[in-house]
Amino acid sequence: MVDNLTILVVEQDEIQKSRLVNFFKKNTRASVLHAVEPSSALEIINNNRYIELLITDLFLPAKSGLDLIQKAVSKNPTLVPIALMPPGDRRLIVESLQAGARFHVGIPYDYKEILEVVKNCLEYQKLLHMGLNRKPALRKSDGFCGIIGESPPMQGLFKTIESVSSCEHGNILLQGESGTGKELVARAIHDLTSERSRHNFVPVNCAAIPEDLLESELFGYEKGAFTGANRAKIGRLKHADKGSLFLDEIGDMRPGLQAKLLRVLQEQVFEPIGSVKSIKIDIRVIAATNKDLEKLVKEENFREDLFYRLNVVPVSLPPLRDRTEDIPHLVEKFLLMYNRGRPHAIREFTSEAMQKLKAYDWPGNVRELQNLVQRLCILHNKPTVDVDALPEKFKKLDSPEKSGLLQTESHYNGHLDFHAMTVDFENRLILHALFKTNWNKKEAAKLLKMKRTTLLEKIKRRNLRQ
Ligand SMILES: Nc1ncnc2c1ncn2[C@@H]1O[C@H](COP(=O)(O)OP(=O)(O)OP(=O)(O)O)[C@@H](O)[C@H]1O
Ligand SMILES: [Mg+2]
Repeated sequence: MVDNLTILVVEQDEIQKSRLVNFFKKNTRASVLHAVEPSSALEIINNNRYIELLITDLFLPAKSGLDLIQKAVSKNPTLVPIALMPPGDRRLIVESLQAGARFHVGIPYDYKEILEVVKNCLEYQKLLHMGLNRKPALRKSDGFCGIIGESPPMQGLFKTIESVSSCEHGNILLQGESGTGKELVARAIHDLTSERSRHNFVPVNCAAIPEDLLESELFGYEKGAFTGANRAKIGRLKHADKGSLFLDEIGDMRPGLQAKLLRVLQEQVFEPIGSVKSIKIDIRVIAATNKDLEKLVKEENFREDLFYRLNVVPVSLPPLRDRTEDIPHLVEKFLLMYNRGRPHAIREFTSEAMQKLKAYDWPGNVRELQNLVQRLCILHNKPTVDVDALPEKFKKLDSPEKSGLLQTESHYNGHLDFHAMTVDFENRLILHALFKTNWNKKEAAKLLKMKRTTLLEKIKRRNLRQ
């Protein structure tokens, strides 16, 4: 018997879909979810990391089933896709395998065959989990739950994620610049928290939803609660019951709603708009912001009591510029993602190009790097990316090694001659500032935060020239 399994059935033909769903309900003890189109299927996959099996028709409208399989696997690498397709189409079989499908069933279906395939999938899933030691986190090639990071700050972050996930309670506040991976971390925490991971991960972007809509989105409402409420709606708080509520951009939540949220966090109870009936819930809130929330509290733009409720476990994400050793690994991951299916795949970046990437300060962090790699995969038609292929802003950068700011010991015959090395470093720093200011000594002194007379004196004494 196929049990303890969550299956998602995607079939555009309503009748076929109902038949499949009913078949699984009758013949297995699996939980069965269903969708008729790829966008809703992807939404379900995003919110339910525990889906083990995706059974999809390849001929879906809008985007094809192939595209759905590809996206589903990249979201959830342990999900097993089964493709439903006309029998004997070899080309389609190859394409579906390339997209990530593991098994095929011919149309019209033989239900016995489907059950066989699903059983095989279950075996496959078991093996997969044994291989992963039931800890997707430990899969090295995918990073930690898909989060890439070999650097010490990222390894520290993974340890924090593991310890907060070993506990089912305690709200978490993720702070980090834009694009550092806050949403990825929130999902990882949910996925690794054993009981909660069996329920929903519900993301709510407090900045993207208009203020007055946010309240009804969160709390839901009764029929007739306000003009236009033609039927009752379940809010996202209820959807997140027993699971995790991800409140993104929490710094943008308006004060009135902050007060209402505080009550929910304190009492784990709320009333939908227009209802007097209280609903009890059990949620863990993972909040995220790229703002300095403590500063907002000091400025009285964020409630202090809510801040302390949310900040039970503070987690900060390091900016990419502080962990440049992760850049090659991230580039490798993004190349894998965006090279797929391209005839002229990019195989590598030259070491000079990689140095430029490391010298850049990445204000948009990993998202900016991801966009760069994606753009190169679309526009660059050679297997190697050299400095010339990078946008102009990278070409102007000097890597620390190249500008000579960091000299190796060998230059000093293996000695760490403090005086000689610091003088050398100073000289290079001064020359660098002079170069940047076109030898305008007043400007260079400003840049170096040094008195102009001191700079002039050093230039003269050390005989520094253009
Ligand atoms: N360490 C990482 N490894 C792999 N991919 C990453 C990593 N960090 C971020 N990403 C990717 O970068 C993109 C941005 O990440 P995410 O949305 O989690 O950032 P964020 O901190 O929530 O940003 P924002 O504050 O702008 O909402 C996503 O596509 C994500 O998959
Ligand atoms: Mg985000």
